[in-house]
Formats: sequence, structure tokens, C-alpha cells
Amino acid sequence: MTETRGKKTFYISTPIYYPSDNLHIGHAYCSTAADCMARFKKLTGYDTFFLTGTDEHGQKIEKKAIAQGVTPQAYVDHIVAGIKELWKLMDIEYDDFIRTTDERHVTAVQKIFRQLYDQGDIYKAEYEGWYCTPCESFWTELQLKDGKCPDCGRPVEKTKEESYFFRMNKYAPWLIQYIEEHPDFIQPASRANEMLNNFLRPGLQDLCVSRTSVKWGIPVDFDPKHTIYVWIDALSNYITALGYGTERDERFRKYWPADVHLVGKEIVRFHTIYWPIMLHALGLPLPKQVFGHGWLVIDGKKMGKSVGNVVDPVVLCNRYSSDAVRYFLMREMPFGSDGEFTLKSMLTRINADLANDLGNLVSRTVAMIEKYCGGRIPAPNAPEEIDRALWELAEKTPGRVEEQVNAFQFSAALQEIWKLIGECNRYIDQTQPWVLGKSEDGAPRLATVLYTLAECVRRVAVCVSFVMPRTPERIFAQIGVEEEGLKSWDSVNRPFAVLPAGLQVKKGEALFPRLDIQKEIDRDADAAEDAEKAAEKAAKEAAKAGKKEQKAEKKAEKAPKAEEPFFPAEIGIEAFDQCKMQVARVLECARVDKSNKLLQFRLSFGKDGERTILSGIAKYYAPEELVGKQVIVLANLAPRKIMGVESQGMILSALDDKGELRLLSVGEGVEDGAVVG
Ligand code: MSP
Repeated sequence: MTETRGKKTFYISTPIYYPSDNLHIGHAYCSTAADCMARFKKLTGYDTFFLTGTDEHGQKIEKKAIAQGVTPQAYVDHIVAGIKELWKLMDIEYDDFIRTTDERHVTAVQKIFRQLYDQGDIYKAEYEGWYCTPCESFWTELQLKDGKCPDCGRPVEKTKEESYFFRMNKYAPWLIQYIEEHPDFIQPASRANEMLNNFLRPGLQDLCVSRTSVKWGIPVDFDPKHTIYVWIDALSNYITALGYGTERDERFRKYWPADVHLVGKEIVRFHTIYWPIMLHALGLPLPKQVFGHGWLVIDGKKMGKSVGNVVDPVVLCNRYSSDAVRYFLMREMPFGSDGEFTLKSMLTRINADLANDLGNLVSRTVAMIEKYCGGRIPAPNAPEEIDRALWELAEKTPGRVEEQVNAFQFSAALQEIWKLIGECNRYIDQTQPWVLGKSEDGAPRLATVLYTLAECVRRVAVCVSFVMPRTPERIFAQIGVEEEGLKSWDSVNRPFAVLPAGLQVKKGEALFPRLDIQKEIDRDADAAEDAEKAAEKAAKEAAKAGKKEQKAEKKAEKAPKAEEPFFPAEIGIEAFDQCKMQVARVLECARVDKSNKLLQFRLSFGKDGERTILSGIAKYYAPEELVGKQVIVLANLAPRKIMGVESQGMILSALDDKGELRLLSVGEGVEDGAVVG
């Protein structure tokens, strides 16, 4: 933690997420943990900066956008809006959201790349190797596992191209020494050994940091046919968001170096090897810590789209509340290790810890104050031993929580709070306020007992707020706490009797209604079945539509053209508006093997990138005569595989008076990518 003008600062980041339309509960795990830490630091008086964002470049995104017939920018814009909605739903309260397509990021990354090139850390050479598109990773022949990507096991593509390289190798000895001398830098410590033994000590290779075949990326400004390797682009977000390299770098000066980058274990390598070397080469200090947390797994497998076991956080939050989901995520498994996710374990935790332990404590306390004290918190009398023991525990709990949170042991921190809750519930059973309430003699004791419970409840509410931001206000409302000072961390670190007597309590709804676990599981199974059926139906319909389309195409080819109705059916302007037609320039054109009809085009859509399209016009044109020409493309036609090649749109043509197909084009001066309409 850095001290700036008397105020301690704390900078925490999540990784920037790949824009995916269904972020799952595993992604939410990382953001929730970062948010809890950031909230805790704010609560305990730090000037906190919490950064998250999205990692939007790369071939994977480009391909997905093409498949949907939209530009990569439009594709990511839509998804990023959804991600922000999710974080809002989960109360992830970041201070800044950086997108790698932000102008501020793009220019700063170009500047960083140029500086590294100018000082000789980046050089140009020929790259030959293997690339895993889903992982955006390069591999050497030796690193492949059975010829496949060693990380995800998927097929890799051979690449050979002119590239820029980063002299990683030069910095390996420095980094080894740094990691050895800074045992806190990589946490948990086991991950540091993994980095040293598996990657650094065997020797680092220089890293290929540019591509010419990936268009959807940040161009190298002094050599724009190259785009900057996505990890160099992505990692820089941690400083570009702070204004590094610009005149407005106050945030950089205030918050860098980061206190912690929170990352999933599979990306520790990028954060503890490439990133430190980049920073060191730039002459910047390293983040104080990179914490690699474990995965949420289902049946032992990492959650993810490709393993088909994604659990939707939106559904979970809407059904059980975001506070309950956040609590479960932070309580269930020790941070750092993998943890199995099941609906049953979540529901069991909600019932046991939230509905029973916490919920009952609050509702019993309030109900008894209403019943025996006319709804006003009584003033305590001299405490007896049993009271003092509970007061002491309540006084010690915040310190214990703080110690655990600072070590990222969220589960242990919550256990400390639940120890206090458990003791309060036991205290009720032991002191039996309902017996004290029956006689006048019991009144002084009853006052002390009920006051003690109300003050403990207030302290619990403050302590849980970093994990469950909504619940404390609901508790405060029930025990009549309005004053901000009574909600502060400072107020739970003072000797016990802080809560003023006389506050008016008010019973509210149950904090967490008890769930019928079996009913919830059945309901979920039904919903899953419905979703599966809907997906099957949609797939069938799509297949049927595809077949129909193919049949229609065949029929159309056979049928004499004259017999086709001139205007098959009238359509509204909205239907026309759905067709996106664009001007594209032919970059390459070639015959397709074993086909007399097809030509394969590589087309440029200007700033919207490039695409491959197959068209059945080989009888009418020689490929060479088309290169450089502009054509008109139906750009949002669903992609289709033709002879093993994905065709990403349709080139428009019309029959001339000799019955020959002629490609449609536009006059001079129209830019590639221009929309026709
Ligand atoms: N874009 C990169 C990070 C670049 S940071 C400069 C990336 N994105 S991601 O969307 O794939 O993952 C974001 C985070 O979510 C990672 O920390 C990853 O570990 C985490 N998780 C994804 N699935 C997860 C689980 N099943 N469980 C826990 N965390 C998981 O990687």
C-alpha cells in the first residue's frame, strides 16, 4: 500500500474479460473477489482504485463477428454492454472500466510498443511456429502436446510470417532473481515455484509480439500491416487505464504500482513473466502482487462454454439475490484452490448460514426487543461473565476478519464473522430471554442481554458489508440504525457498547427466506430441460431452413430463369433494412479445387476487416481479372461451409442480356466497406 499525502492507496484489478455473451459464474468469481477486496479496503479507510474491463481484440473475436455478419466493433460493443449489466446486477463496483478498443488504450499501447522497439527490446524477424486461435497463444513444435495446443488440447495452425519479437530471454535471469527475492510477488507461493521451474529456469524464448494475419488488433503505428499481439495489448491495460504515457497521468502517479492483480491460475504465466518483463523494460516498478486464484469447477472440470457446464450468474442472482450468490462464492472454497460448484451446495449454504444463522439471529433479536421492551433498544446494565465473553469476541472479530481478508482468505474471514453469529445464537439459548421476560426480577438482565444482541447484530452487519453490500442496510433498518457513524469500520473497532440505547427497532421481512432445496433443484432441472428443448428446436429449425435454402438454390439453378416470378412477394422496408450490403474490394481470387463453378475470394471491407467468400461464377470470369475490383456483398448472410471452406457472405450479381452472370459494382470514389442502401 502506498501512502499519498497522508492517505493510504490501494489498487486492485481483475483480468480484462474476453467479450463473451455468456460470462459464467466462474468469471463472476474473480470479479466478486476483487470487488470484496476493494470494498473492504474502502471500508477500512483506503483510497481505493478497482479496475476491470474487456479484452476485445484478436482473431477469435474477428471470427465471431464475421459469423454474425457484423463488424468486430459492433460485436464487442453489444457484448460489453451486457457484461456491464452483469457487474451491476452483482454489485461489482469498479472505479474504471477499460476497453482495449478505447482510444486512450490504443494510443498508449502504440506508444509503449514504439518505445520498446526504439530501445531495442523489440526487433523484427521471421516467425515460424504454431498458433492456437482460441487461446491466442504461440507454441513451438516442442511445446505442442500430441500436435495440439498444450493449454486447451485443441488443434493449432501453422504460421510463418514476418513478426516483431520481444527479447524476453534477455530478462529471464533478472526475473528469476526478482521472484526469488520477493516471495510475496506471486501468491499462492506454489504458483511461484511453478513459474520458476516450468517456464523460467528451462530458459525463456523471445516472444512473438505482432501478427500480420490478424486484422482486428492495434496496428503497430510505424509498420501498420502488423497488429500488436493480444497479450501485449491486454496486459498494458493495467497502466493505460491510469493514463500512463499521457499528460493526464495523475492516476498513474497516484496508484502505480498496483497492490494486486487478481487473476485465474491459467493466466498467472502471462502476468508473472511477460508483464513484469515488459514493465521492467519500460523502467517501471512491478505490481506488488499477482494472486492466482483457483477455478470453479463442475465435476472436476473448469467451467467454460466448451465443456458445456456454464452456470449463468444472472439466473442465480435473480433467483437467490446477488448477496447470497456473492456470499456463497466467497465462503464455499478457500481462495486459491479449485472449488466444485453445485446448486445443491449453494442452496444448502444459503439455508444454513444466511436463512438460519444470520436471518434468525436478526429476526429473534428484533422480535424480542419488540415484545419485551416496547420496540426500543434497552440500555445495558453491568455485564456478567457470559456477556463479557460475547462482548470480547465481538471486539476481536473485526481484527481477525481484517487479517484474513488481507491474506485473500475470504472464506476464513467469513467464518470469523459466523463464529460471532453462532455465539450470539448460543447466547440466546443460554440466557433464555423469554424466561427473563416473564418476571420483573429478570428485567435488568433482559436489558443487558437484548442490548448485547442488538449491538452484536450491528457489528455483524458492518463486518459482512464487503461481501454482501445490500444486506447491512436491511439489518440497520430493523435495528433502527440510521447514523452513518454506526455503520463504519471504526465503530466496530471501538470497545463494545457503541450502539446508543433507545433506538426504535422494526421487524422487517426475513433477510433470506428458507429455500426448499429439492423444489429448487427440480425447478432448475425443469428449466434446463426446457432450455435444452428450445435449443434443439432452434437447431432443427435452422437445419431445416438451411436444407430448404439449399433445395431452393438447386431448384433455382435447374429451373429456367424466365419462369421465376419477377416480384416473388412484397416485403416491407424493415425486411430490406435487415439486409446489410457493403462494397468490398477483391484482394485475392482463385479457382476452388475440384469445382468448375466456384471462385474463392478474399475481400477487403476497409476498416471492417477482411472476409472469405465463395461464389459460383467461375464460368463467367477469370480470377485474375477480378483482383482489385470492387463488388457488392450481402454481408450479414449467415456463413456457410462450401467444399470445406466457410463462405462469409454473398457477392451480388445479375444476368446480362446474353444470359451471363455479371458482378454488380459501384462507380469510382466509393470506399471499401461502404454500406449500400
Ligand atoms: N482476457 C484474458 C485476460 C487478460 S488480462 C490482461 C482472459 N479473459 S477470460 O475472460 O477468459 O478470463 C477472465 C478471468 O476469468 C480469468 O482470471 C479466468 O481465470 C477467470 N475464469 C474463467 N473461468 C473461470 C472459472 N471456471 N473459475 C474461476 N475463474 C475463472 O483470460
